[in-house]
Amino acid sequence: MPYYVRRMRREDIAQATKIDREAFPSMWPPANYRHELNNQLAHYIVVCEEGRTVEESEVEAIPEKGFSGLAFRVKRLFNHDRSFGNELSASGKEYVVGFAGFWFMADEAHLTSIAVREEYHRQGIGELLFIHIIDLATELNAGIITLEVRASNTAALSLYGKYGFTHVGLRHGYYTDDREDAVLMTAENITSASFQARLQQLKQAHSRKWE
Ligand SMILES: CC(C)(COP(=O)(O)OP(=O)(O)OC[C@H]1O[C@@H](n2cnc3c(N)ncnc32)[C@H](O)[C@@H]1OP(=O)(O)O)[C@@H](O)C(=O)NCCC(=O)NCCS
Repeated sequence: MPYYVRRMRREDIAQATKIDREAFPSMWPPANYRHELNNQLAHYIVVCEEGRTVEESEVEAIPEKGFSGLAFRVKRLFNHDRSFGNELSASGKEYVVGFAGFWFMADEAHLTSIAVREEYHRQGIGELLFIHIIDLATELNAGIITLEVRASNTAALSLYGKYGFTHVGLRHGYYTDDREDAVLMTAENITSASFQARLQQLKQAHSRKWE
């Protein structure tokens, strides 16, 4: 397989943020993966491309607000980015092509994000991420996975539908930028034999993509 999945780490933050902003340009405030990695409820994974590392030119580091934002600009000026924490110096690191995450509370895993670099769409990477999300939620003994998705997001709706997620509701005008509706979807009893059997079949079919 040309890709592998692992937990998100601090040095992935710049790339995850870049992918997030490309995938969700109107999301405000944008997700803060530095905070998410410190959140005990959050579980984030990344997909990396085998054998590829990040070029300096591909990484746009994310400045913080206030004093640290100023410090960031001074650092850029003197080209000393590397000394200011991993997330600001992703070059030479593994190349992240997508990421996903959920929050786990009680017995519910709530998908907070899933995104793949645009130039890597339609190769099975979103599905690879989603399989790992379901596996992680299963390991945690989650009874249910929940998510919200824009009503017009046919790609994501189709992915979730493929994995047995069903529409359970609609939040009218949920997205603040354009008042688009959110479709609520869930998969219940994910540890049940029937859900897991279907998952195994889908995993096998998916793994044949890269044979
Ligand atoms: C949704 C997303 C993660 C899918 O990633 P991807 O790597 O392109 O998807 P895959 O190639 O793994 O496709 C898996 C399944 O998703 C669905 N899918 C993906 N792209 C699709 C498209 N353009 N049209 C219809 N279905 C699509 C299909 O069901 C597909 O299964 P199939 O190959 O058997 O048809 C990707 O489109 C993305 O990053 N979008 C922007 C961020 C976003 O909208 N995230 C969802 C927020 S709720």
